Amino acid sequence: MKEERLSARDVSYTYEESADPALKKISLSIEAGEFVAVLGHNGSGKSTLAKLMNALYLPTEGQVLVCGMDTADDSRLWDIRRQAGMIFQNPDNQIVATVVEEDVAFGLENLGVPHDVMVPRIKEALKAVRMTDYAESAPHMLSGGQKQRVAIAGILAMQPSCLIADEATAMLDPSGRREVLDTVCRLNREKGITVVWITHFMEEAAQADRVIVISDGEEALTGTPREVFRQVDRMRELHLDVPHMAALAHELREEGMPLPEGILTVEEMAGEVMKLLCPSN
Ligand SMILES: Nc1ncnc2c1ncn2[C@@H]1O[C@H](COP(=O)(O)OP(=O)(O)O)[C@@H](O)[C@H]1O
Ligand SMILES: [Mg+2]
Repeated sequence: MKEERLSARDVSYTYEESADPALKKISLSIEAGEFVAVLGHNGSGKSTLAKLMNALYLPTEGQVLVCGMDTADDSRLWDIRRQAGMIFQNPDNQIVATVVEEDVAFGLENLGVPHDVMVPRIKEALKAVRMTDYAESAPHMLSGGQKQRVAIAGILAMQPSCLIADEATAMLDPSGRREVLDTVCRLNREKGITVVWITHFMEEAAQADRVIVISDGEEALTGTPREVFRQVDRMRELHLDVPHMAALAHELREEGMPLPEGILTVEEMAGEVMKLLCPSN
């Protein structure tokens, strides 16, 4: 049976100083082991949603559940935060210690985890993000991608079931983006960690199991990446792009080339073009 990890039931959220709700009646359900990408134009409510999923904010209306725990239940707050770890955009703001392994230890120390439990957990977490060799390094010497991997290790050490990443690659160069996304994909695949990946990079969203598009605080579209990205015109109405190959396929189809729907990658495009050029193969 499928197990629900994160869910929102008719959730609205209004900031104190604001008249309009930032989120309006959002309902969603994310299952154990899913990798869900969240897309949306600036100001659509993505970060607000992320903060609701980790009890940084409490819904103005409705209910958010993390592993079945209601985020409004004060007595479960630390368990909720431990189960749904969050990483943010700026790697520098997330580093608190002057040595990598101490940084990874920080969350565990706050939870009062005993030293003999902590040491192997830190080791394992650094290994999982492939940063073992940097355990004794100074975090400020690391690249942006490495710093994000250390931040992820800090979360992993707390043995969460979910990882919520709010534009975790936005400040990184292409190789840093790649290494952070690869790390998270691997943790999802190998350790079954449920991932909510907020991004404005369409190519990243294309790797998710499911995409949720929010617009003006409401869910506008949802489906597999292929289902969502074939709706090129709808995405553009929402001020969003689609992966390059989906856009190219759309243009070529409009020019009369009989390409199938659902092309997302260069390999898929090359394969379909070859089929058209050499139909006998
Ligand atoms: N601290 C805040 N106080 C008041 N309004 C806010 C605050 N943070 C965000 N908002 C507003 O809430 C809406 C959603 O913002 P946000 O969740 O940050 O969107 P996104 O992450 O998709 O860019 C926007 O209209 C934004 O201006
Ligand atoms: Mg945001």
